[in-house]
Amino acid sequence: MRNLSEENLTEAVVQRLARCENPRLKTVMTSLIRLLHAAVREVELTEAEWAAGIEFLTATGQKCDADRQEFILLSDVLGVSMLVDAINHRKSAGATESTVLGPFYVEGAPELPHGSDLAHGGPGEPAEVSGRVLTPSGKPIAGAVLDVWQTAPNGFYSTQDPDQDRFNLRGRFKTGADGAFSFRTIKPTSYPVPTDGPVGAILNAMGRHPMRPAHIHFIVTAPGYERLTTHLFAEGDPYLDSDVVFGVKNSLVVDFKPKPGVRTLAVAYDFGLTPV
Ligand code: BEZ
Ligand code: FE
Repeated sequence: MRNLSEENLTEAVVQRLARCENPRLKTVMTSLIRLLHAAVREVELTEAEWAAGIEFLTATGQKCDADRQEFILLSDVLGVSMLVDAINHRKSAGATESTVLGPFYVEGAPELPHGSDLAHGGPGEPAEVSGRVLTPSGKPIAGAVLDVWQTAPNGFYSTQDPDQDRFNLRGRFKTGADGAFSFRTIKPTSYPVPTDGPVGAILNAMGRHPMRPAHIHFIVTAPGYERLTTHLFAEGDPYLDSDVVFGVKNSLVVDFKPKPGVRTLAVAYDFGLTPV
């Protein structure tokens, strides 16, 4: 294989996979090579643009550390995370829709009694969240665990903000025999994804805003059921139709309504899990 040209280079690269022993890797790499070459051909990439791309990916890697995953953020803002989610969690009757995990989940949040306040009396508009975890036919699932996290009113998760305890606005709740859970928190606020790195710079260069609509994150697990990674979004948020990571689904938008007689908002939501 010599004298390869614009016309036959792609096929030559693909053919080098002939001895790849992992069939799935072969499929994925073949497709990736073809599509990458097609994009380079389509835009007639200049050498300066190629160098800028390499620089961008280098900076993306260099921005990553134990608490910062710039590559996941890149995947999120390019819609790749939600596409992978959509392919792997196709809609099924009675199951709550999933959405993006995001980079701010922390394992090991404390398991709290029902009714606990995730905000520990901190600032924000008080809200109660309650509901049940159900099978597709609507039967309660006992022993399901809801792992919950959200930002403070300043838009920062606890791991981004030295003024918050590590597990502020984070907690886990286990359902009882009736499948029910409840906790207190604050109404979530919209916030920007981190913009101080290469992903922020490319969003800006593309003329895009960095905002996510207000939401509370949930991972719901129960033995014998698929793990559900999802959010509840706040109705009325100005970014519901332009989420920077394309994660909003109508079925996940809830109204934080004033609770009669008390100074708190309230939301009720039942989560449906899919059996494995
Ligand atoms: C989040 O909701 O925490 C999030 C999701 C994707 C990118 C950045 C943040
Ligand atoms: Fe979030």
